[in-house]
Amino acid sequence: MSSKPQSINLKKIPNHIAIIMDGNGRWAKQKGMQRVFGHKNALTAIRETADYASELGVGYLTLYAFSTENWNRPKFEVDALMSLLVTTLKKELPEFMRKSVKVNSIGAIDQLPKKAQKTLKEVIEKTKNNTKITLTFALSYGAREEIVNAIKNISKKVVNKELEIEKIDEKIINNHLYTFNLPDVDLMIRTSGEQRISNFLLWQMAYAELYFTDVLWPDFRKEHLFNAIIDYQNRERRFGKTSEQIDSNE
Ligand code: FPP
Repeated sequence: MSSKPQSINLKKIPNHIAIIMDGNGRWAKQKGMQRVFGHKNALTAIRETADYASELGVGYLTLYAFSTENWNRPKFEVDALMSLLVTTLKKELPEFMRKSVKVNSIGAIDQLPKKAQKTLKEVIEKTKNNTKITLTFALSYGAREEIVNAIKNISKKVVNKELEIEKIDEKIINNHLYTFNLPDVDLMIRTSGEQRISNFLLWQMAYAELYFTDVLWPDFRKEHLFNAIIDYQNRERRFGKTSEQIDSNE
């Protein structure tokens, strides 16, 4: 019998969970359906994950919904994803308000179709005072692009003499990332059996625990998030320290 705890310790809940929601296409294919069918069925997984995360006291949930590389997919699929984003945000707004979900986005949002930008802006504005959980959608997001962007903006400040080179530190870099208002990631989950980071939150995951599961995203449910958190809680996060230092709270 395993000696590992099988109930979640509410005092050790990861504050920020990031998820690479992978496997929608394969899920649909297994059912003899088009890939878009998988994306549509991903919404139940998103809803259930966000609800359970919120119930447990997770402060931040960040979902990789569309990467900079995803623009290279067939136009039909890109259009379907964008329209799914718009309809979902509109449909879920009353639920976001009822559940006090604050919606946020990261990525090159100006690259999205105008309609998606408008809907996203409205939902972010309407939910801005909600406090239970911050639900961030990474859209047209790429971590390298984010870092390049931050370097450009910091460089401009140096050139304009608004910032001295010597003052550049981790905090300044953090403040120039799309995630300036989010804490570091504690737990990163990727579904579908792939074990890669795929250009997601590279800077913010420096000390994150990584959890990989074979479950395809549309099948991801409360019990899978439970398993990921149990696994996280059984790990020792040392941040470069020794086990002894962690035990003695140094
Ligand atoms: C990965 O599966 C998933 C995506 C690239 C898109 C994620 C989108 C959603 C979960 C739904 C839409 C989101 C919102 C916010 C409404 P894949 O297509 O790469 O699957 P595969 O690896 O099996 O081909």
